[in-house]
Amino acid sequence: MSVELYRPGLEGIPAAKSSISFIDGKQGLLEYRGIRIEKLAEQSSFLETSYLLIWGELPSQSELRAFEHDIRYHRRIKYRIRDMMKCFPESGHPMDALQASAAALGLFYSRRALDDPTYIRNAVVRLLAKIPTMVAAFQLMRKGNDPVQPCDDLDYAANFLYMLNEREPDELAAHVFDVCLTLHAEHSMNASTFSAMVTASTLTDPYAVIASAVGTLGGPLHGGANEEVIEMLEQIGSPENAEAYVDDCVKNKKKIMGFGHRVYKVKDPRATILQDLAEKLFAKFGGDRYYEIALELERIVEDRLGSKGIYANVDFYSGLVYRKLGIPTDLFTPIFAIARVAGWLAHWKEQLEENRIFRPTQIYSGQRDRAYTPLSER
Ligand code: SDX
Repeated sequence: MSVELYRPGLEGIPAAKSSISFIDGKQGLLEYRGIRIEKLAEQSSFLETSYLLIWGELPSQSELRAFEHDIRYHRRIKYRIRDMMKCFPESGHPMDALQASAAALGLFYSRRALDDPTYIRNAVVRLLAKIPTMVAAFQLMRKGNDPVQPCDDLDYAANFLYMLNEREPDELAAHVFDVCLTLHAEHSMNASTFSAMVTASTLTDPYAVIASAVGTLGGPLHGGANEEVIEMLEQIGSPENAEAYVDDCVKNKKKIMGFGHRVYKVKDPRATILQDLAEKLFAKFGGDRYYEIALELERIVEDRLGSKGIYANVDFYSGLVYRKLGIPTDLFTPIFAIARVAGWLAHWKEQLEENRIFRPTQIYSGQRDRAYTPLSER
C-alpha cells in the first residue's frame, strides 16, 4: 500500500456507502434520510425520527403507535441488571456504567439471528427502551436511592426525566429534551458510529455493537466534549475573561471545547437549534450566567478562528440546555448516547444488509527480520 493513500484519522476517506444521513459541511446542512434537521426538530419526535433513521421511511400512524407501544412496554430492566449496577462504584463515570450495562444486555438476550427481521426489530426496541432506564437507574443508585420504575403513562422523553428526578417534568422541559434527542440521533460516519460498524461487521450481537459505540462516544474529542464545555465555562468565570482564555488556547495550541468539526466549516446547524432551545428555557425558567460567557466566547472564537472554519459544534450549547433541565454534568454524554443509539442501530442494520468485515491495512514502520536475543543474555 502506498504511503500517499494514508490519511491520519481516515480524513476524507469514505468507509461505507450509506443512505441514512447527509451533511454539507460548507453550508451547515444536515438531513436524516433526506429530511432537514430543522424540520424534524420542529415537527417530529425522537421516536418517530428513530423509526425514520432505522427503517428509512416515516412511519404511518399505526406503525408509529405500535413502535411507541412496544418501546413503552420494554423499558423495564431485569433486576439482575439493576443488582449488577448497584455494585458499580458511585464514583465511576456514568458512561462507563452505561457501557458495562449495555454489554450486559447481551447476556440476557443471547439468541442471535441477524437475518431475521423480527430479531432486528426486537433488538432495536429493547435497546431504545432500556438504555434510558439504565442511565437513570445508575444516577439514582449512585446517590444511594432505589431506581424509579418507568411510567407507562409518559412518553419517551418525559419518562426519562421522570425516572431521573422522581417527578413528572414540566411540559416545555420534556418537549425540549425530546428535541435534543432528535438533534443527537445521527451524524453519518462519526467516530462512535464507525466503531459500531466495525463491531457490527464481525456479526457479533447488537448489544456488543452498542457497547463499543458507547465507549467511543465518551472521549473528550467526541461526545465527551459537552461535559468539558461546562467545566471550561466554569473556569472562564465571566464574559470579560473569555478573550484571554481564547488567546491563551490559540497561543498554546489548546483545543477549545465545543468548537471545530471534521466536517462542518461553519456553525453546526444543531448548535443553532440548541441555542434557540436554551433561550426558550431561559425565558420560562430564568437565565444562566454561563450563557453570557458562552455568547462572548463564541464571538471571540469566531473572530480568531472563524477563518480556519472553526465554529461552535453540537456540544457547545447542549450542556446549557441540560443544565437548565437540572441534569448533572456527567450525565450529558450518556444522554448523547441515549439519542445516538438510534443512529448506531440504523448503521448496524444497514451494515448487515451488505456486510463485509472491516479489515483495513496499515503502513508498517517497524523493523524486520531481527535476531532474537535469549533472555539470559539481556
Ligand atoms: C462531536 O464527527 C462527528 O460528526 C462528531 C459529532 C457527532 O454528532 O457525532 O458531531 C459530535 O464529536 C462534536 C465534536 C466535539 N469535540 C470538541 O468539541 C472538541 C474540540 N474540537 C476539536 O478537538 C476538533 O475540532 C475535532 C476533534 C472536533 C475535529 O478535529 P480534526 O478534524 O481532526 O481537526 P484538527 O484537530 O486536526 O484541527 C485542525 C486545525 C488545527 O490547527 P492547525 O494545526 O492546522 O493550525 O484546527 C485547529 C487545530 O489546532 N482546531 C482548533 C479546534 N479544533 C480544531 N483549535 C482550537 N480549538 C478547537 N476546538
